[in-house]
Amino acid sequence: MKQWTRDERYRVLKSPEEIRELHSRISASGFRQFYHVQPVTGLSSDPNGFALYEGVWHLFYQWCPWGAVHGLKYWYHVSSEDLVVWKNEGIGLAPDRDYDNKGTHSGSAISAGDDLYFFYTGNHRDENWVRTPYTCAAVLGEDGRPEKLPEPLFGPRPDYSEHQRDPKIVWNEEKKKYYIFIGAQTLDLRGTVLIYESENLLSGWKFSGQLKVPGYEEFGGMWECPCIQRISGKDILIFSPQYTKLPGRGESTNHNVYLIGQMDYDTLTFTPEAPYQYLDYGFDFYAAQLAANVEDPDRAVMITWIGLPDNHYPTEEEDWEGSMTLARELRIQDGVLYQNPVRAVEKLRDGMEKDPKVLPAACELEVLCSGGDADLTLFARKDGSGGFRIHYDAERNLCTVDRTGMNLRFNQNVFEVLDMPLKTPLKKLRIFIDRSSAELFVNDGEETFTSHIYPQEDEHGLIHTDNLSVTVWKLKASVRDDFVI
Ligand code: FRU
Repeated sequence: MKQWTRDERYRVLKSPEEIRELHSRISASGFRQFYHVQPVTGLSSDPNGFALYEGVWHLFYQWCPWGAVHGLKYWYHVSSEDLVVWKNEGIGLAPDRDYDNKGTHSGSAISAGDDLYFFYTGNHRDENWVRTPYTCAAVLGEDGRPEKLPEPLFGPRPDYSEHQRDPKIVWNEEKKKYYIFIGAQTLDLRGTVLIYESENLLSGWKFSGQLKVPGYEEFGGMWECPCIQRISGKDILIFSPQYTKLPGRGESTNHNVYLIGQMDYDTLTFTPEAPYQYLDYGFDFYAAQLAANVEDPDRAVMITWIGLPDNHYPTEEEDWEGSMTLARELRIQDGVLYQNPVRAVEKLRDGMEKDPKVLPAACELEVLCSGGDADLTLFARKDGSGGFRIHYDAERNLCTVDRTGMNLRFNQNVFEVLDMPLKTPLKKLRIFIDRSSAELFVNDGEETFTSHIYPQEDEHGLIHTDNLSVTVWKLKASVRDDFVI
């Protein structure tokens, strides 16, 4: 693994020419995705600034241009008309002000009136590397690039630690106010959320208080990327608790969870109606963001980073890493969250085959289970060994996903085998395979499981027990490796 000095990681990009050669080198990699958003060069992590504005979906990702390393972060901009075909738009936000000199960190967007507004964390560090996180804003300009305000909206609170970041902007119709939710850490190192309110987007912000979530006063050491939305009369609070191990998550200390309940803006209390659940049971899933301005009371649209902080992936050797998930539609029925890929993904289908023995590099699988224990192996070697194995135990109503059989193994110290308990017996699995990821949707979205995966040339076999029937669609490419900076 390459060792980076601080200067290398925090180098400012002065001209696109500095990364042109890197771009042509990595775009030739056999692990580049065909239909998932991925970094133009270097590293992509959290989705940012996700909103529908004038008929176009805008999405940004945390981007470090230089390689697979968490260094100086930019917002890189992509756009889409259907959440499936994505276009590279170039740099959205660059760390070019004193208040964001060491990174334009995560944040969100909202459209109001005729404009699209962005809220992000300006990660300032002084010469002694002491950090001050500012909450900053920008507005989409005529040239399609966000224009920053000259000054941050507000600085950090001294009665919390330096971890105060990732503003999520929401409008509350009852109060006729905007609220910003900020991921934070108390001085005694507990994860929490700080709430700010204002009647205007670009001024008048005042601190409302700390979010209260009964039962979650001691739940991880920092809550990154909080997100909240009302779906079918319930509120969903999504966040990424850190610095803690959670049951069934191996050695990982980074997670993405959700609570369903009610948000009360008078008392700043989120009252959960059920225990927290993992937003996805997979290995690589973090920092989920819900799109703003979907304007449908029964649906949210979500994109997440396929990856985890502090983890390492085989494409680091090629100087790039990371990918976004497919856009997912979230619904809540009878208190149960359902996640499914947006319908438009079906446009990518290009030729269908029943029970093939070999998997195309980019494909969708529909697996129907007639009952009982079942085994499905993706990416088996030619001799039938190895692969990415999914085992269903009918008595325990549990799927176990095991990636130890792959030639390229990674994050072995964190987890390689994980369980996914199901709510109802296994009937249907939809699996989306791209060149370096797999996303599983179980029983019409009751559970999901997302993983990076790096199959080599001899790993394309598909093997399963007789109680499974598999339909495979080859999928067309919908992202391009255009060099736009
Ligand atoms: C989550 C996170 C955010 C931060 C960003 C920096 O992965 O640590 O809290 O804003 O990444 O890239």
